[in-house]
Amino acid sequence: MEIFVVPTASATGSVAAGILAAVIRSKPDAVLGVATGGSPLPIYAALANHRLDMSSVRAFALDEYVGLPAGHPESYAEVVRREVTERLHLDPANVAVPDGSAADPEAAAADYDAAIAGAGGIDVQILGIGHNGHLAFNEPGSALDSRTRVEVLTERTRVANARYFSTPEEVPLRCITQGLGTILEARHLLLVVNGADKAGILAAALNGPVTADCPGSVLQLHPHVTVVADEAAASQL
Ligand code: GLP
Repeated sequence: MEIFVVPTASATGSVAAGILAAVIRSKPDAVLGVATGGSPLPIYAALANHRLDMSSVRAFALDEYVGLPAGHPESYAEVVRREVTERLHLDPANVAVPDGSAADPEAAAADYDAAIAGAGGIDVQILGIGHNGHLAFNEPGSALDSRTRVEVLTERTRVANARYFSTPEEVPLRCITQGLGTILEARHLLLVVNGADKAGILAAALNGPVTADCPGSVLQLHPHVTVVADEAAASQL
């Protein structure tokens, strides 16, 4: 595992974008795993400045809420469209997000897992980490070998994500998330973490026991992990 500690959140974006740019230069049809949340946003902004040919790059999102109306601005389909597809000039046909409005979300989740494999797997998976250690929406208790599936969000995650919605009640109760086992199949994991409020959980994930109580601890099981953290987030490492 390699760990870069940089002064600011904006610098985490530049370092992570540099890593992604090198992958895309050597493999123009690279498959990226893209994450939502606040932490990865500086990556997309910095990567746009590299002015790469992104026309063949493919992307799979980590997760999606279940039950938001189509086109809801905080659905991850919309967030990915705004922050990733448009900003990076990806071909929308090359970008996939789990179908949170499917009549059968469990089947949609299984299809999504199969689609990732069908694309040849993910070359670099961008990740953030939640305050309770969640990766994507794999909440504590998720099996370390779990696959893409429907999950119930914890109250803590719903409270954390309420900042994106007009009322806390509007935050969906369920989601489709890539499983921890699915995430571990990506060839390179790129975790980006900012802020003092993540210092404790980052230390637990990287240095504590590997346990379903802290889903981020599965990173310790992967042979190629890069962590990019600002000084505040890295302060307990
Ligand atoms: C959300 C996403 C995760 C993300 C996490 C942390 O719940 N599903 O993929 O890592 O929040 O987000 P942030 O970076 O905003 O703290």
